[in-house]
Amino acid sequence: RKEGFPHFMLKEIHEQPLVIGETIRGFGIDYEKGAEMLVNGKNIFVTAAGTSFHASLYFALLTMKLSSQKVIPFISSEYEVYAHVASEDDVLLAVSQSGETIDTLAALRAFKQKGAKVVSLTNVIGSVIARESDRQIYMKAGPEIGVAATKTFTVQLTALTWLSILISHHTGKIGENELKEINSSLKELPSLVEKTINLYSGWSKELSNFMAKKASAYYLSRGLGVPIALEGALKLKEIAYIHAEGYPAGESKHGPIALVEKNFPVVFVSIEKSLEKRLHGNVEEMKARGAHTIGIIPKDSELRELFDRTAILPSSNEFLTPILGVVPLQLLAYYTAVEKGYDPDKPRNLAKTVTVE
Ligand code: F6R
Repeated sequence: RKEGFPHFMLKEIHEQPLVIGETIRGFGIDYEKGAEMLVNGKNIFVTAAGTSFHASLYFALLTMKLSSQKVIPFISSEYEVYAHVASEDDVLLAVSQSGETIDTLAALRAFKQKGAKVVSLTNVIGSVIARESDRQIYMKAGPEIGVAATKTFTVQLTALTWLSILISHHTGKIGENELKEINSSLKELPSLVEKTINLYSGWSKELSNFMAKKASAYYLSRGLGVPIALEGALKLKEIAYIHAEGYPAGESKHGPIALVEKNFPVVFVSIEKSLEKRLHGNVEEMKARGAHTIGIIPKDSELRELFDRTAILPSSNEFLTPILGVVPLQLLAYYTAVEKGYDPDKPRNLAKTVTVE
């Protein structure tokens, strides 16, 4: 039931504060055991497809940043070469909302054949990926009806952030006190997500009038923001049928900038303060070619005056901003699809669960 919302996708975007809260309240022994298994691996690999891959990439970047532990992320359909180098000392984290995606299952099986251990994060109890893994962690997102993943992405980010923090705690990089502090700031997350939805629904709707007329857009970031940029581009592509590319901002001058002309939309996601200066340079490059620049930035950002349009996220905590940052991008894709007269719940050519290779 859509409970008064015109589409499931919008309902699920609005459900995020609730399900993120439930996920945080459910952090327990399964996360601790999962983190322990991952930490004990010689190498940690993480794999998934689509939106779940973006969450997995975020996990890899955050874990390397926080714990200095090497994590190798890969797209599950590309598993062969990664499974080739895996051994029984390694651990694979398999991330899948449905727990049924054939590519992710194939990666899991290939790693198991090499004797590696597998930890899974899924949203469906008893799904095949959960059943075939050595340790299961379940997200508490509830069923997602919209084909485009929204609430399951932010729940994955929340769950994987916690897992990453536990790994850093195990490796001694995060102490008891810091762990408590992070835990209490995570508790603010549901209300901050709600605030972001309220602050930027009208903003996204207004921007969708502009976006709906465009054939192409770029979504750029650096560091921890890159997976968020990739996800923003995927959302726009899959439901509004606009060519959208997400990539690390530094890559612009190595080719993609050739396409930029007057009023070409470029969305910038800024998360890490330490990378702002270099991102600033990339924004200037785009502006010099007449791009229409849109900034998604944290509260304490110094890039406030830089963009044609700006969404300022209501938190400056680096653990929380990525999860908030994707919200305006989900809303933008949604309203752009609606503006173009498409049904965002049923994008053409796509299935909720992909069970063919
Ligand atoms: C995009 C989307 C897909 C899925 C992908 C993996 O909005 O939903 O890209 O993320 O098919 O699915 P799961 O997570 O079920 O393995």
